[in-house]
Amino acid sequence: MNELLQTLVEAYGPSGFEDGLRDIIRPLVEPHADEVTVDAMGNLIAHKRPATDAANPLKVMVAAHMDEIGVMVSHITEKGFARFTNIGGVTPHTLLGGRVRFADGTVGVIGADRFEERSSVHPLNKYYIDVGATSREDCPVRVGDAAHFDRPFVARGNHLTAKSMDDRIGCYVAIEALRRLPEHVAHDLYFVFSVQEEVGTRGAEAAANRILPDVGIALDVTLTGDVPESRPMDVRLGDGPAIKAKDSGMIAHSGLVRLMRQRAEEAGIAYQVEVLEGGTTDARPIQLAGPGSAAGCISIPCRYVHTPSETVDARDVEGAVQLLAAVLSGEIDL
Ligand code: CO
Ligand code: ZN
Repeated sequence: MNELLQTLVEAYGPSGFEDGLRDIIRPLVEPHADEVTVDAMGNLIAHKRPATDAANPLKVMVAAHMDEIGVMVSHITEKGFARFTNIGGVTPHTLLGGRVRFADGTVGVIGADRFEERSSVHPLNKYYIDVGATSREDCPVRVGDAAHFDRPFVARGNHLTAKSMDDRIGCYVAIEALRRLPEHVAHDLYFVFSVQEEVGTRGAEAAANRILPDVGIALDVTLTGDVPESRPMDVRLGDGPAIKAKDSGMIAHSGLVRLMRQRAEEAGIAYQVEVLEGGTTDARPIQLAGPGSAAGCISIPCRYVHTPSETVDARDVEGAVQLLAAVLSGEIDL
């Protein structure tokens, strides 16, 4: 598990720059799909057709996003420091002293303008990236270049920590569940590795409007309520994957929630039910695509989301793989 996961989480892929991820994932899903395509936005779509004798095949879209939060250079100072803007939900608290890596491997250190008040936090435009240049002319990065936060993967027992568990862990769950499915399946399955989720679930919206699924299942991280002074939330690391009931962008289809719970119970998979008060996932645009679909989400509980040390529990990851495979393997009666 950890070898593939390390490859996925350490890869470069801020929103809009998912090419490298696509190249990693494509050969992993190809042997298990009937057809693998890439659409104009860059979504990677692995299509597994239903068995020819399937009685009532539904179109099911599974989505995990390849992109991660990051930064984009907006201006380079005369002395060669790069000012930047955010790609997705970057909070200033997480920046100072951190490192970023550009597509070509250039590493920069994040510095900040002088703090008058040590307890205050600067807005994003008072931070800069130091790539070791001395002038605008010798600066190796340019306006429009994107970087991700640079941090190696680390496993500490069941706790797995990386810069981009959101949402490479969802990609991992999708890849692993696809591998474990029987050769002949009852439904028409589309595994979408989506782009540009962190800037507003854009890739999944385009893919869902093309596929027009009957059922949609997003795979993404969710917050937990198990750390000091956290917002009260009944999701904990290590208690199993979370079946989403609601987030701020979507109410999950109640029949799909019931089916997920039933499959988990039948298979003896520990699970939690998630009500997330902030944020949403690719399940939202899937739910609203075309004439609408029955959408839900299997979430992987994650501490420190949108920091360079997003942390999940290996047991929840394995549970999510089993749950997704169990849902996709059988009849889907909503
Ligand atoms: Co995110
Ligand atoms: Zn995510």
